[in-house]
Amino acid sequence: MRKNIVAGNWKMNNDLAATKTLISELENQVKTSEAEVMIAPTFTNLLEASKLLKDCNIEVIAQNMHFAENGAYTGEISASMLKSVGVTTVILGHSERREYFNETDEILKQKVEAALENNMRVVFCFGEQLEDRKSENHFNIVEGQIKNVLFHLETEAWKNIVLAYEPVWAIGTGETASPEQAQEMHKFIRGLVNSNYNDIVSENVSILYGGSVKPANAKEIFSNPDVDGGLIGGAALNAESFMAIVNAF
Ligand code: 13P
Repeated sequence: MRKNIVAGNWKMNNDLAATKTLISELENQVKTSEAEVMIAPTFTNLLEASKLLKDCNIEVIAQNMHFAENGAYTGEISASMLKSVGVTTVILGHSERREYFNETDEILKQKVEAALENNMRVVFCFGEQLEDRKSENHFNIVEGQIKNVLFHLETEAWKNIVLAYEPVWAIGTGETASPEQAQEMHKFIRGLVNSNYNDIVSENVSILYGGSVKPANAKEIFSNPDVDGGLIGGAALNAESFMAIVNAF
């Protein structure tokens, strides 16, 4: 059966000192969680975070990686580098990577393949822009984003895929998709996976919602049958609010 997951995407926030502080606030509280809990600090703090959390059931994950194993890619980080600091899950396709760093479906396809070849788990993000929703094109956009990057994968590979629907208009805006909008899209996504694969794959893949999830709305969003957790930005930077979201399960 699929897992419930709450993942904190810290984005470009928290230096080393702030990372240590937030981890120390989180680590004792998370032991009893019903959901799998992940945090994604910046690259420079992954090693320290992994060390601090090695005996705790909070997984330290990365926000991005390059598709090449090594070589002349100044400023980039490979899968094996992440694994060497204890990181085996990576977020790929975040809308901020797509928008500010021009990550296309073609690039993301290579990144996903590289992560899977390295036995890493992928949290694959996608979601429509506001104009897509206004023009009722959101289902087509999401279908294309998933199909172009993931639907060539073998059935077996899906054991290492987590999906994260993040409508761009809801990220960092305080505006959340309504529970009905989230459920409608998640059900559509599960249906797509089902028609391209089978019941086992579609029933076992966790589909997270991201976009202004807060303690006040988490329970209602997570209570939908096809919403299996959340990818949390701003509210993950504070231990109290992140824990309240984790405990919404
Ligand atoms: P916010 O929770 O700040 O809207 O960010 C969501 C997000 O982008 C998580 O990846």
